[in-house]
Amino acid sequence: MSHPTDLPAWQQLAQDYRETCRTHMRDWFAQDPQRAERYWLDVGGIHLDFAKNRINDTILRHLTELAEQSGVPEQRAAMFGGEKINTTEQRAALHTALRRRGDAPVCTDGENVMPKIHAVLAKMGRFAHAVRSGQWLGHTGQVITDVVNIGIGGSDLGPLMMCSALKPYGHPRLNMHFVSNVDGMQLAGVLAKVHPATTLFVIASKTFTTQETLTNAKTAREWFLRGAGEADIAKHFVAVSTNHEAVAAFGIDTAHMFEFWDWVGGRYSLWSAIGLPIMLYLGEDNFVKMLEGAQLMDEHFACAPLARNMPVVLAMLGIWYINFYGASTHLIAPYDQLLHRFPKFIQQLDMESNGKQTRKDGTLAGYATGPIVWGETGINGQHAFFQLLHQGTHLTPADLIVSLDKQGNLPGHHEILLSNVFAQAEAFMRGKTAAEARAELLAQGMDEAAADALVPHKVFSGNRPTNMILLDKIDPLNMGSLVALYEHKVFVQGVVWGINSFDQWGVELGKQLAGTVLAELNGTLAAQPHDASTMRLIRLYRRANCE
Ligand code: F6P
Repeated sequence: MSHPTDLPAWQQLAQDYRETCRTHMRDWFAQDPQRAERYWLDVGGIHLDFAKNRINDTILRHLTELAEQSGVPEQRAAMFGGEKINTTEQRAALHTALRRRGDAPVCTDGENVMPKIHAVLAKMGRFAHAVRSGQWLGHTGQVITDVVNIGIGGSDLGPLMMCSALKPYGHPRLNMHFVSNVDGMQLAGVLAKVHPATTLFVIASKTFTTQETLTNAKTAREWFLRGAGEADIAKHFVAVSTNHEAVAAFGIDTAHMFEFWDWVGGRYSLWSAIGLPIMLYLGEDNFVKMLEGAQLMDEHFACAPLARNMPVVLAMLGIWYINFYGASTHLIAPYDQLLHRFPKFIQQLDMESNGKQTRKDGTLAGYATGPIVWGETGINGQHAFFQLLHQGTHLTPADLIVSLDKQGNLPGHHEILLSNVFAQAEAFMRGKTAAEARAELLAQGMDEAAADALVPHKVFSGNRPTNMILLDKIDPLNMGSLVALYEHKVFVQGVVWGINSFDQWGVELGKQLAGTVLAELNGTLAAQPHDASTMRLIRLYRRANCE
């Protein structure tokens, strides 16, 4: 495996960095009137303005060459082609097949996966239709009014994010609830709001072994059985999983199980049966539109030249800042309230995929890989942490995301939202010079001495990069495209860094240790040899609760 730092394009980028790191974007804009037009991409209803980045045509060419030399085209073909690119688990990563429309075969392990994908989609469609239309009744003959999804990580974040982003498309009778935390406060809060006779529980777990999900599911079942019999469970509990045996062992009839497969990673699973809450809420047609939007992005990713390929451009801009500028975080700041769950979803997608230091060949990378991804709605961020972004010492590349359509927003609100996001991007790029700050203060009537004292605090260095991602509208089609855009961005970065973006061994150690600690907390296991700090914490709990 080639080391990215040895590739000719990497060396050229290192040289580009040395030559341009002091150049201000203001100057690039001033010298190049076509910049905004050239650094712009459209895919369906998604538009990317990447002009406010610390790049010129040479850097962009070298970034594209780095993608090429790293094997992005070959790895991309391997992913779409069902090869086992998840090498540590010997699995394909075929989330792209889940949103593929039509009958063209997609094979992995010599099997065409499309017939079973279509069969599960059809089963989900029939079920969603029955629940939405009121044909599916609870055990007392009442229609379903509340859906409670119990799942965590990828079995929670995708459906939660899509249901909240697409709320305007939601069924008016259905209230959607999501329970992920094993802290019973969350489940208890939801159970206090719903009635057993009109509630449908979706137990979502790829493995059906996840402690948090199974604990919540068991408690929900006990709550339900207080007023109903075992036979009524069939009307109120369905499962989404890859694990038939565990679903049956839990007591859910596998006729009420919606299946997916080990070649669907948890954080890439909202297109699969894990998306059942989305389909229940939005309906089958809208779910299919979401798949079509993702497929649109898949086709663009598969076919567009690397230099004009939206996921590749976003990925390589990220590499530019992480590996050459030393940026260690990346901000996701959606401005629309409908997208307020989006940063958390992208956080899992990106950090669980690329938060690794071991390369596919088992060697240590020795260079930076996945960034810390964080975020919040931009407008709230402006009044909280944007201060640091504008005047602090860290370089924090940011994606600012906003919809153009007013979509029933209250009069005057959407314009204020858009004016803010556009102004922020401008401020991050332009900054404010000392001369500008001084002139402003004098124009406000301040005397020269006072102005001179204040000027250093009023200076904004600017030159802080942002991508502006515009959605024509927040609708199922565009949301499908947007999520697929980020999935492919993360994939391209993983390829350049030579890591496997589809495993997540890093979550195992804590799970393993928690098993022992739980037995010690419950007193079913004698004190084990931990470090002194952990032993003290366990003793403290036992003293407070058990002695
Ligand atoms: O612990 C991490 C993880 O495995 C995620 O990758 C996954 O999305 C989540 O837990 C939930 O897993 P499951 O769907 O198997 O319950």
